Amino acid sequence: MQICRSTQDMRDWRKDAGRVALVPTMGALHEGHLSLVAHARDWLDDHGGGRVVTSIFVNPTQFGPTEDLAKYPRDEDGDIALLRRAGCDAVFLPQVADIYRPGAQTHVEVAQLGGMLMGQLRPGHFRGVATVVTKLFNIVQPQAAAFGEKDYQQLTLIRQMVADLDIPVQILPVPTMREADGLAMSSRNRRLTPQDRAAASVLARGLDGAQAQIAAGDELTSVQDALRAMLASEPRADIQSIDIRDAADLSPVTAITRPVVILLAVRFGDVLLIDQRVAHP
Ligand code: PAF
Repeated sequence: MQICRSTQDMRDWRKDAGRVALVPTMGALHEGHLSLVAHARDWLDDHGGGRVVTSIFVNPTQFGPTEDLAKYPRDEDGDIALLRRAGCDAVFLPQVADIYRPGAQTHVEVAQLGGMLMGQLRPGHFRGVATVVTKLFNIVQPQAAAFGEKDYQQLTLIRQMVADLDIPVQILPVPTMREADGLAMSSRNRRLTPQDRAAASVLARGLDGAQAQIAAGDELTSVQDALRAMLASEPRADIQSIDIRDAADLSPVTAITRPVVILLAVRFGDVLLIDQRVAHP
């Protein structure tokens, strides 16, 4: 597996790499990321073959001033070992100074999708995501890139961005991998205390219940009330937001007449967890 530690290394490797599928990550890799790598590989196999590149970059511009960038888990050696085992062809590990050079003036903002929901809870977050993903696309020049459905708003926003800016990258959505108790896999789970880790399974139970209610034809308010009550029954859960939105464009809904996505953001201690579920009436 090729290790590229700078933009120049990556560009040099890219020249002869042929078709490429990118898996953008912030490291602290787990089974969920390996599933992104596997989906990227499958896509390449279906398109005549090629190379999978995983980027590992803890992007400072998507963290707010009150969010602890320094506490984000990092495990470069462990990540490289996992990617080797997963059959990844190259890993891109740039330094912050290589991605954000002094004097830069340009950023990418997906106005509406970036300002709603998590964008209100974390101002500036999606501007940081859209900017770094655009830069990664420009450096790696992939034909496809895999993103997890767990970060549903991020996935929706990236799709909008590539359409708006005519970026020739196919976006591959990848279903969420879950622990045995239903907790969505996330690098942040490593920072949960054992008590919070056990309590966090309430998210998946809440989503299961809401999905079943929607499938049974229950009304929006009754789904929302039951979900809030279920989450509130866990004293360690500090609910930040519960939203039910149109699954296609995240616009607000007043009744459930087409597929919706249920979006949760809940704190356990100082760890903010998000999860989602698409539900069909
Ligand atoms: O989902 C993530 O890990 C990050 O937001 C991403 C897409 C790698 C951009 O930094």
